Amino acid sequence: MGLSHALPQTALTLRGAFAGAAAMLRQAGVPTPELDARLLICHAAGVSHESYVARPDWELAPDAAAQLRRCIERRLDGEPVSRILGQREFWGRAFLVDRHTLDPRPDTETLIEVALGLVASQGLREQPLRLLDLGTGTGCILLTLLAELPNATGVGTDRSVPALALASANARRLGVDDRAAFLAGDWLEPVSGSFDLILANPPYVATGEIGRLPREVGAYDPWGALDGGTDGLDAYRRIAGGVRRALRPGGAILLEVGAEQADRVLSLLREAGLAIDGKACMWRDLGGRPRVVAAREGAACLPAQMVASQKKGLGKSRCSG
Ligand SMILES: C[S@@+](CC[C@H](N)C(=O)[O-])C[C@H]1O[C@@H](n2cnc3c(N)ncnc32)[C@H](O)[C@@H]1O
Repeated sequence: MGLSHALPQTALTLRGAFAGAAAMLRQAGVPTPELDARLLICHAAGVSHESYVARPDWELAPDAAAQLRRCIERRLDGEPVSRILGQREFWGRAFLVDRHTLDPRPDTETLIEVALGLVASQGLREQPLRLLDLGTGTGCILLTLLAELPNATGVGTDRSVPALALASANARRLGVDDRAAFLAGDWLEPVSGSFDLILANPPYVATGEIGRLPREVGAYDPWGALDGGTDGLDAYRRIAGGVRRALRPGGAILLEVGAEQADRVLSLLREAGLAIDGKACMWRDLGGRPRVVAAREGAACLPAQMVASQKKGLGKSRCSG
């Protein structure tokens, strides 16, 4: 669909651009047309949200109007707004995204909330914790935790070298690059030493399901960030099989899981010799779906305070036994 009728070629104000763009996106069935229109206009025009609200009669320069038309064409083609903007907000911070990285999801913020809850409840927030993020992508998990935990250091691994380059750029943007290192390789293979907390949001979509994902996911997130093998659990098997050597005694691993995977992933961790705390081993996301599972090396228990905070915030934890 051409945009020449919806967006006039000349004297396009922010107000006029919004009316035309939102109408086109709405007509195409885009779920959040007004929000998307505003984000794309601010991006194309190079204005902040505040300026956008304060100056509705501000006229877009011809090149900004042309860029807005291209942005709307891409959105109408199904491309997520975050990919058009080249960045995504995660836990209140902006992360660069590109075609080599998964677009960070709000679901993954559950992992952050659980990790920070664990650290806070043990009084470890100021400690020099060592963190490991397997399959770091944009670095959103590791870098968020480094930004929140002032004395922590961390390593992010990924088998995608271009993804690691973007994670490094994100580390510099967030000012935590002096506490982050990135290593290319297969899960734990490039890592030495032991860690207090290991985290991962591995690929967990069964190979046969990838073709059925919405276009916004299947066509834009990299295959290697989605493909979890025949049953979706390949990465969990690999990580569970090798993680004990990388955990210090009492250290914990927190894994994001897909729908219906929590019990099977907990079984993999248990079979690998890790301890599962019956009171705090699974947390639900805001939609009520099991989203994060935990296990630990050795006898120390995840603290009961975490269970209480989860009941207030993310939903009850429970364990399959
Ligand atoms: C679901 S994405 C998660 C990215 C990021 N941690 C996040 O939560 O947005 C999974 C990541 O694992 C990486 N990955 C896939 N297979 C891997 C492997 N064998 N070893 C290391 N990383 C791998 C992918 O390149 C991708 O960046």
